[in-house]
Amino acid sequence: MNIAVFASGSGSNFDVIARQAQEGILDVKVKLLVCDKEHAPVQQKAQALGVPVFRFVPSNYEHKEDFEKDILHVLHEADVELLVLAGYMRLIGPTLLQAYEGKILNIHPSLLPAFPGKDAIEQALQANVKVTGVTIHLVDEGMDTGPIIEQEALRIEEGEDASAVQKKIQQMEHRLYPQVIQQIVKGEI
Ligand code: GRF
Repeated sequence: MNIAVFASGSGSNFDVIARQAQEGILDVKVKLLVCDKEHAPVQQKAQALGVPVFRFVPSNYEHKEDFEKDILHVLHEADVELLVLAGYMRLIGPTLLQAYEGKILNIHPSLLPAFPGKDAIEQALQANVKVTGVTIHLVDEGMDTGPIIEQEALRIEEGEDASAVQKKIQQMEHRLYPQVIQQIVKGEI
């Protein structure tokens, strides 16, 4: 299955997915990285792995619809079937949602519907919850609101700070995201 990863940041999830794809652990081909940030480190990771990057500058466009049409064009050219969001800090608009209905995944570092949006780990710590985790869901027009596909819980230990929790969440994400993608490819989800 041909996939595209959308990312705006460091790209650790991208890296794991693209490597596993190249090693044949995952039955996907990462055809494209879509990135909206000029200096996002994920781009170097893509270059190192030989994954083509489509980087666009949102401020060069008047409307979301305009840049999503450009994205759609490259996705179609590359025969992309599944979109995998991994730290893409934008809401997906109707253009992509309609073209890839039910075929856009996102990963979020909390047990949704708790703590949607930015800084989910900090939000969880502020709220003094004892358990947080990771959610993988289908993307709809809302912010972190689509149907949940998989979740895993993580206990927050006494005295743990955001960076300690983030490290554990990241390890969980790197295990869970490829697993779910593979299940989708196999038709198990
Ligand atoms: C992850 O924590 C993911 O849950 C969130 O953005 C972060 C991306 O991390 N949506 P990375 O860029 O893959 O390291």
